[in-house]
Amino acid sequence: MSSSIDITAIGARAEAMLVELAAISSEPQRLIRLYLTPEHRKAADLIGSWMRESGMTVSEDALGTLRGHWRPELEKRLLIGSHIDTVIDAGKYDGPLGVVAGILAVRELAARNVRLPFGIDVLAFGDEEGSRFRTTLAGSSASAGVFDRSSLAFPDRNGISLADAIAAYGHNTDDIPAAAYDPADVVGYVELHIEQGPVLEAQNLPLGVVTGIVGQSRMRVIVLGEAGHAGTVPMHMRHDALAGAAELMLLIEQTAVENRDDGMVATVGRIEASPGATNVIPGRVGFSLEFRSSSDEKRKGAIEQIKTDAQRIGVKRKLEFAFEPFHETNTTACTPALQDLMADAIGSLGYQAVRLPSGAGHDAQVMAKLCPMAMLFVRCKGGISHNPAEFASEPDMGLSVVALVRFIKALAARMAAKGGT
Ligand code: GLV
Ligand code: MN
Ligand code: MN
Repeated sequence: MSSSIDITAIGARAEAMLVELAAISSEPQRLIRLYLTPEHRKAADLIGSWMRESGMTVSEDALGTLRGHWRPELEKRLLIGSHIDTVIDAGKYDGPLGVVAGILAVRELAARNVRLPFGIDVLAFGDEEGSRFRTTLAGSSASAGVFDRSSLAFPDRNGISLADAIAAYGHNTDDIPAAAYDPADVVGYVELHIEQGPVLEAQNLPLGVVTGIVGQSRMRVIVLGEAGHAGTVPMHMRHDALAGAAELMLLIEQTAVENRDDGMVATVGRIEASPGATNVIPGRVGFSLEFRSSSDEKRKGAIEQIKTDAQRIGVKRKLEFAFEPFHETNTTACTPALQDLMADAIGSLGYQAVRLPSGAGHDAQVMAKLCPMAMLFVRCKGGISHNPAEFASEPDMGLSVVALVRFIKALAARMAAKGGT
C-alpha cells in the first residue's frame, strides 16, 4: 500500500463515525439499540449514507441486514461485516467498529481505484446480541442460508413476535430465503471487532488474529414450586422455587470453575421470581443460563451434569425443573489460510501478530457455515466490553483498517496466483 495512507486520519474518522452512531439510542443516558426498532432504522439510514459516500450501492434484506455493495457488477464477493445492535447500556465499539472499518476499507480501495478480482459487500447485521428476541445471529443466519424459521414466533418482552417486528420494519418473511448468498459467489467473510478481553493489551499489541470462536449453549430454566404465605409456612414445609434455583446456580458456577481449563464459563444473566412479593414464598422462577467452552463435548457434558443436579435438588425440595434450550453453536475455527493472510497483514505493519481465540460470539461463527472466515481483533482498554467504559484508541482503529485493506489485497493476490478470476 502506498505510504500516503493516513492511519491517524482513518482512526479519527472511525471514532467520529462511532460517536455519531452511539448517539442513536432508545435512551438518552444509556446506549441501547435493539433489533428492528426505530433506533435500528435510524442507525441503518446513517450507515447507508456512509456506504453511498464511499462508492457503494445499498440494499437491505428481509432480516434488516444493511448491505453496501462495492463494484456490484462483479459476481464474486468478499463479505465484510459485523453488527449494529447493542446490549443494554453498551459501549460504542462492540459491533459498529467492524461495520465502520469495512466502509473505511472500501473507501480507501475506491479512492485508490484498486482493481480486485471480486467486489465487496459490507454487511451491517442487526441481531448479534440477542437483546430483544431470544434469537441471536438472525441476520447472519439468513445471509448464510441457515435461518431457522421457528424463531419467527419468538416474542420480545412486549409480546411482539420476530415475524411481526420484521413486518413492522418493512420486510416480508417470505423473502428470507432470498437473503442467502450462493456459496459459489462468496470468496470469504471477514469481521473486525474489538477483542473484548485483556490479552492484546497485556502483550502491548494493537491487533490480533482470531483462531476460533467458542461454542455456546443458551437456555431458559423454569423452576416450579409452591407459592405460600411468608409468615405462616414453616421452613421445612416450603417448596421455594427461588431457593432451589439459587442452589442450582451455585452448582452451575462450580461446574464452570472445575472446567476452566477448557475455557468454560457459565452465566445466569436474567432471573424472574413470581409472584415477586416480599411476603410471598416464590412459586415460580425463570432464569437464563448460558454455557460457553472451546470444547463442545465438555460444554454439553456440563449441561447434562446440571440437569442431573437439578433433578436431585427437585426431589429434595419437591420442585420441578424444566430446561428450554434456544441457542446452540459449536466452536468454530477461523479458516487457517485466512488466519495466515491476516497475520501477514499485521506483520507488514511492523507488529507481532498474536493469535487468540474469541470467548465472545460473533456473526462470523454463522458466516463460517457459508464460506471461509477470518477475524481481526483490535485491542480494547482494560479488556472491558458490554459496558459504557468500552474503549479502543484512534491509532489502533486506524491500524486495524489498514491491516484489513492489506488483508483484502493479499487475498486478491492469492486468488490471482491460484488462477482465480
Ligand atoms: C456477544 O457479544 C456475545 O458473545 O454474547
Ligand atoms: Mn459484538
Ligand atoms: Mn457484544
